Amino acid sequence: MSDHTPHPAMDAYWMPFTANRQFKKAPRLLTRADGMYFTDDKGRQILDGIAGLWCVNAGHNRPKIVQAIQQQAAELDFAPPFQMAHPKAFELAERLAALTPAGLNKVFFTNSGSESVETALKMAIAYHRVRGEGARTRLIGRERGYHGVNFGGISVGGMVANRKMFGTLLSGVDHIRHTHDHARNAFSLGQPAHGAEFADDLERLIALHDASTIAAVIVEPVAGSTGVLIPPQGYLQRLREICDKHGILLIFDEVITGFGRTGNPFGAQTFGVTPDLMTVAKGLTNGCVPMGAVFAKQGIHDAFMNGPEHLIEFFHGYTYSAHPLACAAALGTLDTYADEGLLTRAAELQGYFAESLHALRNEPHVIDIRNIGLVGGIELAPLPGEPAKRAFNIFLDCYEKGLLIRTTGDTIALSPPLIIERSHIDQIVDTLRGALKRAA
Ligand SMILES: Cc1ncc(COP(=O)(O)O)c(C=O)c1O
Repeated sequence: MSDHTPHPAMDAYWMPFTANRQFKKAPRLLTRADGMYFTDDKGRQILDGIAGLWCVNAGHNRPKIVQAIQQQAAELDFAPPFQMAHPKAFELAERLAALTPAGLNKVFFTNSGSESVETALKMAIAYHRVRGEGARTRLIGRERGYHGVNFGGISVGGMVANRKMFGTLLSGVDHIRHTHDHARNAFSLGQPAHGAEFADDLERLIALHDASTIAAVIVEPVAGSTGVLIPPQGYLQRLREICDKHGILLIFDEVITGFGRTGNPFGAQTFGVTPDLMTVAKGLTNGCVPMGAVFAKQGIHDAFMNGPEHLIEFFHGYTYSAHPLACAAALGTLDTYADEGLLTRAAELQGYFAESLHALRNEPHVIDIRNIGLVGGIELAPLPGEPAKRAFNIFLDCYEKGLLIRTTGDTIALSPPLIIERSHIDQIVDTLRGALKRAA
């Protein structure tokens, strides 16, 4: 086989968000997982520095979750979610509503973060329409935002690589500026001091389009996929105020910040700002079965509850909304989080995590370190003319040394399972230090 010929058994699978040709020449295959570690096909232990993909918050192979899925598969494998239901869907929604910030007490189930985003955007537009403000159709996202890969999500998203190949996207979308300010905020511990005023960019768009045409603004409280951008102090509060002033719904995309990542169940609680709609996925089932959800304020839900009672109020949903296996996995996950205090554990560990990460500040190529809860971002100077390559090489090096990290552009992102111990943090930082020193 020439160097360019992939292994035949790997030919058919077109991998998502992957450098397919590179991967198939040097595959990285995970075969088992337990606690903080994966095992690869060569039997090596790989420390999970990113909770799978920001989702395995309780660590791998947790007994209550495994049992819940096994039992559910044998008891009720599927129940149609349209005009029918099963008891665990209601139980889960009640349990979730008790965890969310006050007021976000209606739960709509989806199967992924991308679907949660589409659902929230549609809810926002339809909400205004059912209230008689049908002109409010415009959606506002933010530069450097990531909201999944469906058309609504990439339209409000702000990652050029995810947008440029896919035509004209949704019409009637605009973006506020991102919050990254390297010059003023590099190496901030936790929330950066500068940049609350970036929220005022929303006023610029309101002046351009008029508030009467705007349905909603969607932001991630912490932008993960574009390199771990922590909201400046006061920024989210300011965004909330502007939305309130103009009758615009505020949507928080908490697909990565949900379920304990920032030290509270949700980022909204950590930052003290309650949105009108919140999207979640990932940690909802500890990544074990695909599931997402949208949390809505009571008033948004109630606006739909008019007209004849036998008619469907919101024409939206998925075959697998509130799938029994996903509901069982989520209930087992919430039990595990509760038993072990995991939804607030990041708050206990964030001091040690931050101190350990920031100790890498003087290592080669490091130009910024950002952190909140158990989220870390280490930004590197790019290799001249080859953006993203230096960080990718470090990702490969770390994997060889038994650590799974994630990179986006030239930023290394860390989001370990919330069961992490200090010794694991030390292992992450030591492995990274070695890789940074070796990196070209
Ligand atoms: C903020 C945010 N929204 C949406 C998504 C999309 O989620 P999914 O890949 O489950 O569709 C992600 C995934 O990383 C995300 O980080």
